[in-house]
Amino acid sequence: MCTESTMNRIFEKVFLAALLCVCGTQGKEMTEIEALGAQPTHCTYEYAFEMYGAHCASRRLNKVPNLRSGIEILDFSDNKLQEVNADTLSSYTNIKFLYLADNHIYLIEEDALTSLTDLQTLDLANNVILELPNSIFQLPSLRKLYLRGNPIFYKNMNALTIVKPIKAPLELLDISDCKIRELPDWGYLPQLVFYNISHNPLASLNTHHFASMCNLNKVDLTESLNSLKLCGTRSTILWFQQKRIFFQLEDYSKLNTREFENCPVPEDDGSHNATFHRCKAEYLQVQSIRTSRRTWLTIGGGLAGFLVGFILLLYVMHRHNVKQTKTKAEKMKHATPADADKTASAVLLSDVA
Ligand SMILES: *[C@@H]1O[C@H](CO)[C@@H](O)[C@H](O)[C@H]1NC(C)=O
Ligand SMILES: *[C@@H]1O[C@H](CO)[C@@H](O)[C@H](O)[C@H]1NC(C)=O
Repeated sequence: MCTESTMNRIFEKVFLAALLCVCGTQGKEMTEIEALGAQPTHCTYEYAFEMYGAHCASRRLNKVPNLRSGIEILDFSDNKLQEVNADTLSSYTNIKFLYLADNHIYLIEEDALTSLTDLQTLDLANNVILELPNSIFQLPSLRKLYLRGNPIFYKNMNALTIVKPIKAPLELLDISDCKIRELPDWGYLPQLVFYNISHNPLASLNTHHFASMCNLNKVDLTESLNSLKLCGTRSTILWFQQKRIFFQLEDYSKLNTREFENCPVPEDDGSHNATFHRCKAEYLQVQSIRTSRRTWLTIGGGLAGFLVGFILLLYVMHRHNVKQTKTKAEKMKHATPADADKTASAVLLSDVA
């Protein structure tokens, strides 16, 4: 038999359980909000890969705060930075790796990065940069440059006239997804190994452009040749094959068609080879300057070490002599006058020797 009181008790229990449930979810929401609030808003410091770095990623910051000087890595990605001015980073001249991807950067002042002479990697991906300062391409140590996902070349190609020769020893250049129709004229890029130009609506492909990159190993052309006529790519594809440059496409099947086979190839007058060889010569020159600088540094270092050692040796000998002279002089004091004469002449003799 089911009495009224038991029914009541069951009802009470269900009600309580429901209440607990609601409270429980509310509790969960609270902790999530708390967690959000507890997300770090300050940069943290870390010592990694034998380098000192500041980590400021995903802090919702709209400016670079005062950081400890001497940092070599600055990760400021996924924030709300809009402008990089001359004083934003000028006091952190030791920076080698600078990550500024996923911000709202639309302006980089001409002198904003010139003091970063040790900068090796610059990541500016996914910003809204329309104009790029030429000084970036003159950074003396810059090897990797990521510009992916910026509308830099959208407005007008002529807005970016690159000062040549580019001094930065670029090995990696990523200008994918930058709305590029005509690839910019970089001049010679003798160190470039990897070139990412994927996801751009390229209107033409010029073999000369690639001939001045004589150490190129890989080009990513994914989704970039769709608005080009198939035959317009033929001579450049042949160049890639001849120079054993790996080129990445979303689909290679078009290259196996009779249409592609039958494309007229403009006569090779050797100008691409000439450009390629000039680039190689430049590369070798840079390499030899580097090795000779290294050799001189080694020789110089060796000489300096030798000199320091030699001076130390002289100093030790000098100290030894002074000590001996002193003890002899003391002995002289305690000795008889006749003995003193002998020791004195001995000291004189040793001084002469
Ligand atoms: C080239 O850039 C695109 C993004 O724009 C990326 O998805 C792709 O992985 C890059 N290619 C290589 C080989 O890293
Ligand atoms: C360019 O150089 C390649 C070898 O690197 C050679 O096979 C080709 O015939 C040269 N082209 C011209 C026009 O000299």
